[in-house]
Amino acid sequence: MNETMNRLMSHRSIRKFTEKPVNRETLEDILRAAQMASSSSNMQAYSVINITDPQKRRQLAHIASDQSYVTESPVFLVWCADLQRLAASCGFDAGSGYVGTTENLVAALVDAALAAQNAVVAAESLGLGAVYIGAIRNHIHAVAELLELPELVMPVFGMCLGYPDQEPILRPRLPLAAVLHENRYDADKITDLVGEYDLTTERYMVERSGGKSKANWTDSMKKKLSAPIRMDIARFIGSRGFWRNEEKDMNPGERQ
Ligand SMILES: Cc1cc2nc3c(=O)[nH]c(=O)nc-3n(C[C@H](O)[C@H](O)[C@H](O)COP(=O)(O)O)c2cc1C
Repeated sequence: MNETMNRLMSHRSIRKFTEKPVNRETLEDILRAAQMASSSSNMQAYSVINITDPQKRRQLAHIASDQSYVTESPVFLVWCADLQRLAASCGFDAGSGYVGTTENLVAALVDAALAAQNAVVAAESLGLGAVYIGAIRNHIHAVAELLELPELVMPVFGMCLGYPDQEPILRPRLPLAAVLHENRYDADKITDLVGEYDLTTERYMVERSGGKSKANWTDSMKKKLSAPIRMDIARFIGSRGFWRNEEKDMNPGERQ
């Protein structure tokens, strides 16, 4: 294994940081590396908002279920899918051009995620740690208002960055065979492989919680997926310039 592979294979989210600040140059290096991620048609349809205002940080932490590391981490970034810059550059508004389509929203979400993950890898290579904060979507309208996001900009997740003050054990992943298929999607193998993973995650949870929990992956996923969560995302997207009437503009080959 080379250095890059070793680093990728030792990733873990960091939720406790030392007080050592992340200097501006380091942050900019990380974000320049993020910018070098591949991007759909080179649209670069994302933006990053660096939250340096302590009051805004506290408000975002509150939105994100009061996760303490959102206020405590030296850096907190909000990653947004951004079609606004494209629309403005091309002179399109909500009524002209085809910027805010679902296809472009998907591209923008992917762009934001790829750039963000480049940032995580870059940060880890420089000795920093990171954790994504999807919980900012708990109140997506409030985040948009707080950060004065224009139409066609959607906050996707936050990210805490800083120097690690913990060394969590690695969280095991599904067996490769559960995510890797050959030529066709093979649903038959899932039960056995997930069963195997449930045993692994049970052992992991016992170790991580010091014996307090032995919730396996299926238990956790069942709990997560049994309650409605963030049900206003569709309304947010619909009210922010995305989703023009796409049906009427469908090409004949796209109607099925
Ligand atoms: C989009 C996204 C959102 C996430 N949101 C949160 C979050 O709000 N709070 C948190 O503590 N971890 C969050 N995580 C971290 C995941 O829980 C973590 O990556 C996963 O459990 C795997 O663990 P690892 O990163 O330590 O390997 C998020 C991860 C992703 C990719």
